[in-house]
Amino acid sequence: METVVLIVGAGPAGLATSVCLNQHSIPNVILEKEDVYASLWKKRAYDRLKLHLAKRFCQLPFMPHGPDVPTFMPKDHFIDYLDAYVTRFNINPRYNRTVKFSTFDVSNNKWRVEAENTVTGETEVYWSEFLVVATGENGDGYIPEVKGIETFPGEIVHSSQYKYGRDFKGKNVLVVGGGNSGMEISFDLCNFEANTAVLVRTPRHVLTKEEVYLGMSLLKYVPVKVVDTLVMLTTMARLFVYGDVSKYGLLRPKQGPFATKLYTGKSPVIDVGTVQKIRDGKIQVINGGIGCIKGKTLTFENGLKQDFDAIVFATGYKSSVCNWLKNYDYVMKEDGFPKKPMPKHWKGEKNLYCAGFSRKGIAGAAQDAMAVADDIKSILATTKC
Ligand SMILES: Cc1cc2nc3c(=O)[nH]c(=O)nc-3n(C[C@H](O)[C@H](O)[C@H](O)COP(=O)(O)OP(=O)(O)OC[C@H]3O[C@@H](n4cnc5c(N)ncnc54)[C@H](O)[C@@H]3O)c2cc1C
Ligand SMILES: *[C@@H]1O[C@H](CO)[C@@H](O)[C@H](O)[C@H]1NC(C)=O
Repeated sequence: METVVLIVGAGPAGLATSVCLNQHSIPNVILEKEDVYASLWKKRAYDRLKLHLAKRFCQLPFMPHGPDVPTFMPKDHFIDYLDAYVTRFNINPRYNRTVKFSTFDVSNNKWRVEAENTVTGETEVYWSEFLVVATGENGDGYIPEVKGIETFPGEIVHSSQYKYGRDFKGKNVLVVGGGNSGMEISFDLCNFEANTAVLVRTPRHVLTKEEVYLGMSLLKYVPVKVVDTLVMLTTMARLFVYGDVSKYGLLRPKQGPFATKLYTGKSPVIDVGTVQKIRDGKIQVINGGIGCIKGKTLTFENGLKQDFDAIVFATGYKSSVCNWLKNYDYVMKEDGFPKKPMPKHWKGEKNLYCAGFSRKGIAGAAQDAMAVADDIKSILATTKC
């Protein structure tokens, strides 16, 4: 099969790219490995997930959220929005197609993409002038190597497989990772009466979602330093009222939260109630890393030894692009993230693009989609005449 633009991945970034291309009447096809669009949201997100970012940072091109939508949407609300988006713009991805191999064919000057049809088991070959990588930053769940992990008798899950804490009631559970997923899963486990401990390796800013909203709104108008100062003032006021959390093991970085995000891509942690539970002694914080595992017993780098029944790894993801895209270096580095700095990170060589890799969530995916579609439009316009 041949088309003008081939898009790999039907998450928010791929869907938005298709919609933008359709607006320019540019033929395109989306290949998606799962049997649904937005599989991350429909299949891989835990039950209690609420969008951390305010609604205006979570919308796709040409369809803003209405005024009656709550500022912080629950997951199901956002899925309804995506359903409406796909229906309204009549997007029809080709499902059950896992892209296994892509390469730029020099003799044809075109992209050659091989996808496995997971229903028939056949390999299908696609050709296109343009290729858009939209497989997401959260490709494969990443679990770090830990000495002795194979001797652990209990359950080991990655955060992407975690749904709810019901099955862990009364058990000793360790959550590895103090980012958004780790902190929220700890909260969920504790609500389901698991004896929860969270392993926090690096200092992180913990803010309320309102503080993040304030910061993100201000960033448009004032420099990041000023934003950080203002946000840190509200944080300090909160800490003054409720007490410092560093004594519980939650250490804060020296740099402000928005500067940290800007320069390192590390988001502040948005507190969903975990901090209160830590203060109340219901969630234990362990600093550092795991030294080794022997049976049920974990030995931590700080010398602590403790027994656990289950471990949840909220240790993030690895972009999977380099596994299937042979010429990834036209647009990406070995870690599967863009090699060019923003704001032109989405554009590679040989008509290769990426959308959804700016570490800016749905808003970033939407911006990339529009930029990519506009760029393809301008290239097609110049080559035609
Ligand atoms: C738990 C969690 C909570 C989050 N909360 C927020 C939030 O509140 N706000 C926010 O803005 N962002 C949030 N994010 C970030 C979120 O991932 C992105 O905003 C959004 O889903 C990115 O869309 P995407 O299309 O780039 O990637 P994805 O949503 O990951 O979509 C990629 C698609 O590509 C498909 N695919 C992958 N590999 C292949 C292949 N080889 N062949 C074919 N198809 C393939 C996948 O099945 C998937 O459907 C969250 C992420 C996680 C993990
Ligand atoms: C994709 O696969 C699923 C399950 O294997 C099946 O139910 C669905 O009908 C398939 N969809 C398409 C479009 O082939």
